[in-house]
Amino acid sequence: MVVNLDKLTYAGNLENLRDIESNPQYSFIKGDICDRPLVTQIITDHNIDTIVNFAAETHVDRSILSSAEFIQTNIGGVQALLDAAREVWGEGVGKRFLQISTDEVYGSIPEGQLSSETFPLSPNNPYSASKAAADLLVLSYYKTFKFPALITRSSNNYGPYQFPEKVIPLMILNALADKELPVYGDGLNIRDWIYVEDNCRMVDMVLHKGKIGEIYNIGAGNEVKNIDLVRTILKELGKSESLIHLVNDRPGHDRRYAMDFSKVKQDVGSLESVDFKEGIKQTIKWYRDNPAWWGDILRGSYKDYYAKVYSRR
Ligand code: TYD
Repeated sequence: MVVNLDKLTYAGNLENLRDIESNPQYSFIKGDICDRPLVTQIITDHNIDTIVNFAAETHVDRSILSSAEFIQTNIGGVQALLDAAREVWGEGVGKRFLQISTDEVYGSIPEGQLSSETFPLSPNNPYSASKAAADLLVLSYYKTFKFPALITRSSNNYGPYQFPEKVIPLMILNALADKELPVYGDGLNIRDWIYVEDNCRMVDMVLHKGKIGEIYNIGAGNEVKNIDLVRTILKELGKSESLIHLVNDRPGHDRRYAMDFSKVKQDVGSLESVDFKEGIKQTIKWYRDNPAWWGDILRGSYKDYYAKVYSRR
């Protein structure tokens, strides 16, 4: 039985869960991970033996506009989850708590280097700082209380159902509407793109085969410069590169993320992953085929966010 606890804030959307909502092995609860009594009750009532914490505020540009929600959910929420689980689980024998983290905690990685799990944490924006803090808290519970925790640090995800504030859907939707594509700075920043389903399958493998107390980097080895990413999207859509606009850079913008993910391959296993060009094609097709999904979002409060961020750029 899987219980999904979600606050359904701006990026949460029950439409994304339509295909599983009638599954008898699944149940949905609207609520906040910061609400410790609620979390304690859910763990108790549903006899939860495994927790995977995907809940987080994740968008860097929003954390620059206001960091309070990031500190509250990404750190306070993790503390509430850990304490609720400890309260119900006691010693935690046979239980597992997987914290979903990010390659952003390592900060910007110079060309020629890769961040392994022992690389120093050096977050550069409020979002990544909140995730690094949560990682340290989770590890401290393992060290102090032998709490059965593990951590995964994934690279940038892409694929269907991604909220349009993230660069790939944002650029696809702007290109479809013949709107400017706002590329930050010189467009030479690098991200390692992993297809969302590949990431989920790896997370599932770590959940079952990973060692308690360990951190696992999950990357794809698809290092792409933002400008090349945008060109690929335009080419795929048959649109002109004149839509590209270099705009003021994001403050604290990390130049490059690139992890060494040999540990997870060695200790947990590897999977066949989607080729980046193919993944982008599938993603573009999904956005083309689902205008009702993103149309609702673009007409909602996202409009105000977009105006706020991009009028400054
Ligand atoms: P994003 O999807 O916000 O992920 P993250 O910052 O967590 O890696 O951004 C990915 C890259 O794209 C990042 O280098 C910032 C850049 N970017 C733009 O150039 N323009 C945009 O409008 C956005 C949202 C991002």
